[in-house]
Amino acid sequence: MVNGAEHALSFDPRTTLLDALRDRLHLTGTKKGCSLGQCGACTVLVDGERIVSCLTLAVMQDGREITTIEGLAPEGELHPVQEAFVAHDGFQCGYCTPGQIMSAVALIEEGHAGSDAEIREWMSGNLCRCGAYTNIVDAVRAAAAKSGAAAGGRS
Ligand code: FES
Ligand code: FES
Repeated sequence: MVNGAEHALSFDPRTTLLDALRDRLHLTGTKKGCSLGQCGACTVLVDGERIVSCLTLAVMQDGREITTIEGLAPEGELHPVQEAFVAHDGFQCGYCTPGQIMSAVALIEEGHAGSDAEIREWMSGNLCRCGAYTNIVDAVRAAAAKSGAAAGGRS
């Protein structure tokens, strides 16, 4: 299940989830950066938990609920975290941003947005080479406050 739609696909068993999403389902919002699990550009949610999709095989996700950046705004209306990134100028490129936003959505849901230090810690797997970190923290803080989930939530 990807972004609420069921897909019956067969893969070479070596196909990563990232390649399956981009090359087979044409969901190119999820970006390929390092392919080594180090940059976070490929972050998606699997059953609500974030994972780096370059380090998991597509066949391992059979029956799971996968959400990509496209799935956050299915009707074209921005998700509150996306709105916050726009309002706080939380991005400069389009490359790391989808992964940053997917991580932000999950960490707010997990209740890990209680302080700037906590936000930084839980966003630390998502790298930004152009230094938008301050604005990203502002955006996550604002989105968390709006959702009322700055503290508490899942752990
Ligand atoms: S492309 Fe997956 S972590 Fe960099
Ligand atoms: S905004 Fe994408 S690398 Fe910095």
